[in-house]
Amino acid sequence: MPYRIYIIDYEYRKINIVLLLEDNTEQQRTEETNKKLEEERVRVAAIIKTIESERERITRELHDGLGQLLTTAKLKLEIVKLKSADHNSEISEALNLLLSAGDEIRRIINDLKPSDVESFGLVTGIEILCEKIKQNTGINVEYSIINYRSPSNKKNEITIYRIIQEALNNILKHSKSKNAGVSLNSSQENLEIEIWDDGIGIDKIFLSEHQGGFGISNIEQRTKNLGGSLNIITSPGNGLKIIINIPVA
Ligand SMILES: Nc1ncnc2c1ncn2[C@@H]1O[C@H](COP(=O)(O)OP(=O)(O)OP(=O)(O)O)[C@@H](O)[C@H]1O
Ligand SMILES: [Mg+2]
Repeated sequence: MPYRIYIIDYEYRKINIVLLLEDNTEQQRTEETNKKLEEERVRVAAIIKTIESERERITRELHDGLGQLLTTAKLKLEIVKLKSADHNSEISEALNLLLSAGDEIRRIINDLKPSDVESFGLVTGIEILCEKIKQNTGINVEYSIINYRSPSNKKNEITIYRIIQEALNNILKHSKSKNAGVSLNSSQENLEIEIWDDGIGIDKIFLSEHQGGFGISNIEQRTKNLGGSLNIITSPGNGLKIIINIPVA
């Protein structure tokens, strides 16, 4: 009902009728929209809560269940290796496979953990990640974020974060560097991401033939999913730089 009518009985003989026309359509519309937004917010919060508790459950099962089984299998195999001189190379191979399985479980657990990006966005997520590395290792990690415009699809921010996280993991694991950095630079068409270190570097041919790890191929795959291009600049003794260009929609 858009209008309200008020009738005011003013005096005995003289009756004044006053019509006060009050249009409250706009107010009603705003109230309805706010109600719908609130309902939507509650619904999304419930979904996020379910996803997070499910993630926690899977993480616990992977860590306490599968992780413990792998550790026990590894210990038993180490005892066999100590006790017997037979099949030594096969046993070592099996041990390495178990180690890789352990790494893989840790990676899955890491991917399942809700990240700071989901809570605070990419820029703060990167800042927290770099500060943590600075505090916990001897590596001085700089970060520079210029004109960053958040992609409309939130999932893309998480993919970009995972790429940077993987590149920084490699720096910690392999580079022996003192300095490293992450930079994000947006132009009209592109988001350019650079992750670099001043460590030992690697021969590019060896890197392209390297079959053991998942890190670089994950970075490649994720960049491809974002429709971007990847370039790795490195040589022995000259550090390593990953340059990624992603078109901005
Ligand atoms: N920043 C770096 N400095 C020097 N070498 C590197 C660097 N990043 C990667 N590498 C080399 O490239 C190889 C491939 O890296 P990749 O991330 O694919 O595998 P990984 O780190 O060995 O294993 P995973 O990532 O699966 O745990 C590494 O084993 C390492 O030799
Ligand atoms: Mg790696």
